[in-house]
Amino acid sequence: MRQKFVAGNWKMNLDLDDGKDLLIEIINSSIDSTAQIIVIPPYIHLSKFNQLLTSSNIALGAQNCHQQDSGAFTGEISVPMLKSVGVEYVVLGHSERRNYYFEDSISLSFKVQQVLDHGLRPIYCCGETLDQRQEGLHFDEIRTQLKEGLFKLNEMELLNCVIAYEPVWAIGTGVTASPEQAQEVHSFIRKTIASVYGDMVADNISILYGGSVKPDNAKELFNCPDIDGGLIGGAALNADSFAAIANSF
Ligand code: 13P
Repeated sequence: MRQKFVAGNWKMNLDLDDGKDLLIEIINSSIDSTAQIIVIPPYIHLSKFNQLLTSSNIALGAQNCHQQDSGAFTGEISVPMLKSVGVEYVVLGHSERRNYYFEDSISLSFKVQQVLDHGLRPIYCCGETLDQRQEGLHFDEIRTQLKEGLFKLNEMELLNCVIAYEPVWAIGTGVTASPEQAQEVHSFIRKTIASVYGDMVADNISILYGGSVKPDNAKELFNCPDIDGGLIGGAALNADSFAAIANSF
């Protein structure tokens, strides 16, 4: 059985007091799910959240990292620092970082390796823009993002990665990929992995969907055979909707 995940990417939202309030609401919302729940707040909340999560099954994730252990990189945060505050997962290659901060798949491959080398798990995001989909280039784009970002890894390393398919046109727009559209791409991702690493790796890697997941569409998406959970943005900022999505498993 592939591991299921429901991960809340808070992006750059909520100050520490409001963030703590939301986290406590989430902890108290009696989530009863077979999925691993992950909360991914801004960096500055991680240390406090680690203390609040001590007796909970919820794991902590970060939204980015630097590819070096330490050094003169003003404004950056390293993986050893994240590890020291209890982070287990690191989102890499979110389309907002690719778009606004010009991160590309080749440079992301170094971050992926760094996260794995320190025993944490990357959540590697891929996805196409609306233009790419309309021109029928979405499969090519996703294949390239996977190849450049991940395919230098060995089998065990790849199995420690989680992949998130996030079509850029569905992020924060209220437009969700239909279950058929999402399943088609998830199946393509799995086949692409199988063609390089074989069926065992492809069958065991978790692939999450992200893009306007809400309580009323989560179940249908999560029921698709190749969708192993969700990376949730806006709906993760409300404890009731996040818990409802988590309880869709
Ligand atoms: P929304 O759920 O707000 O569309 O965001 C998805 C996302 O980008 C999660 O990383």
